[in-house]
Amino acid sequence: MLKKIYFVLLVPTILLIIFYHQNKVPKKSNPDSKKSLNIGNVPEIYLSDAKITKSINHSCANFPQLSDLHFNNNYWQLQQTTFGDFYLFGAYLDQRHDPVVRILALYEEYQPQNTYFCQLWYDNSPRPLIVESDVPYWLFRHNWGADNKAYKHPYLITCPVDLIKGQKPSSVSLVEKPCDNASNNLRIFESFSKRRKNFLVCVKGLFYPFEDKTHRLVEWIELLGLLGVEKIHFFELNVHPNTKKLLSYYENHGRIEVTPLSVAGSVSNNPQAVERFLREKYTERRLQEVIPYNDCLYRHLHEFKYVVLLDTDEVIIPAENTWLELIETLQDILPNSSSYMARNVYFWDNPSHQHEWFEGIPRHMHMLQHVFRARKHTKPMYFVKGFHDTRLVIALHNHFPFLCYKKCDFTEIDLGLAHLQHYRADCAYGVKNCGVMKSESAMDTRVWNFKHELVKRVEKTLADLNLTLKMEV
Ligand SMILES: *[C@@H]1O[C@H](CO)[C@@H](O)[C@H](O)[C@H]1NC(C)=O
Ligand SMILES: *[C@@H]1O[C@H](CO)[C@@H](O)[C@H](O)[C@H]1NC(C)=O
Ligand SMILES: *[C@@H]1O[C@H](CO)[C@@H](O)[C@H](O)[C@H]1NC(C)=O
Ligand SMILES: *[C@@H]1O[C@H](CO)[C@@H](O)[C@H](O)[C@H]1NC(C)=O
Repeated sequence: MLKKIYFVLLVPTILLIIFYHQNKVPKKSNPDSKKSLNIGNVPEIYLSDAKITKSINHSCANFPQLSDLHFNNNYWQLQQTTFGDFYLFGAYLDQRHDPVVRILALYEEYQPQNTYFCQLWYDNSPRPLIVESDVPYWLFRHNWGADNKAYKHPYLITCPVDLIKGQKPSSVSLVEKPCDNASNNLRIFESFSKRRKNFLVCVKGLFYPFEDKTHRLVEWIELLGLLGVEKIHFFELNVHPNTKKLLSYYENHGRIEVTPLSVAGSVSNNPQAVERFLREKYTERRLQEVIPYNDCLYRHLHEFKYVVLLDTDEVIIPAENTWLELIETLQDILPNSSSYMARNVYFWDNPSHQHEWFEGIPRHMHMLQHVFRARKHTKPMYFVKGFHDTRLVIALHNHFPFLCYKKCDFTEIDLGLAHLQHYRADCAYGVKNCGVMKSESAMDTRVWNFKHELVKRVEKTLADLNLTLKMEV
């Protein structure tokens, strides 16, 4: 009898201890364990265990719990509507004029004509503020091969915001009808800065899982630093382990930010599958790419004067000096242009006439070693990249602004001042007279203006990371 009672007491006690340890121990040893959930676009309020009850009334606009949220590939929040699903990526407070919340999303509806509702959640209020959005702004153009209802299309959705007694909403749920119970809740990013810095560079989803491109990347990052770039914001789909090491190094030094990214939709996250998607579903890839570009703009809206969207094989090189002198010159010539765009010129990966390596430059330094370019630039306004004024632009495409407060008046940068050096094996798809460009080349060494310091910085970074190559010069 005594044994039985003993047993009856012992078992639950052991279970309790196990339960206690399972729940307690990981939390103690790793206070950040919940943050490593890695779903960056949910509000911080979910880090607390408490159930959050907010609503208009019990049958209208209930605050979604973390377990009520629907996700796709980790970073996209899903919201059903009668026209299809929203794939929501981010929300941002924009206080440049009357305060608004901007939401970036893919949507299964092609060019929706109707408005939606923002349920704005305030930390100190038990009720949401429900406001009507504008008609979603399509972040694409006709005749670009995407006028197709089968695709998920990118949109910018804007809702006016009331700052209740100066208080800002901390998150927002986008829904079709005001009282809907949302399956999404986006934390509202707000870009703070005491002093406006000059240049931010944004890079769409990095995807180099198989090939080690680390040495190319370190040269590019350090060159941008020398040109005057104060931050680079990368989106990361999947990269080689050495590149991962490099990115965390720069992240720890506060020089870059990295946001993890996935392809929205039903494609597997397996790198082979993603590789195929990016190669074969060219239009869908381009439709999705505008989301990180605009996310980058809005995350840093009030922090930088100019945002520049570049790929890692491109760099704007002024004829002299750095970006700062360049932009001052441009502002003198044509003040307050929404964008200043640099013309594109190809620097070929392996020009047939270049037989030797340049001495005193490590061979892995691709840009310093490749100074032969096509004599001719690509046509004006084609394949350009440039500086977008963050006071003026509302929505960006990688080659020009879509939408600005005034008319978007973008200026082409005179070739005597700067151009966009584009390091490739071949022309981009659709470039006419590529043959001529490849046959007529010119030596252009302006990147050597930065040679001495660039070599020093790259070698230091590689040494810090134990990535120095042995067979070098
Ligand atoms: C809840 O609020 C909605 C919107 O204000 C209203 O239409 C509805 O009648 C309310 N329901 C109850 C049960 O109070
Ligand atoms: C929201 O959820 C509540 C509680 O589960 C439910 O009573 C209500 O009908 C739902 N509202 C809508 C519009 O679906
Ligand atoms: C440029 O914009 C600034 C800020 O809005 C304004 O103060 C300045 O007068 C403008 N300059 C010109 C030449 O329009
Ligand atoms: C580089 O190697 C040294 C010596 O082996 C080691 O102490 C250091 O932690 C390594 N650094 C990195 C970033 O791997």
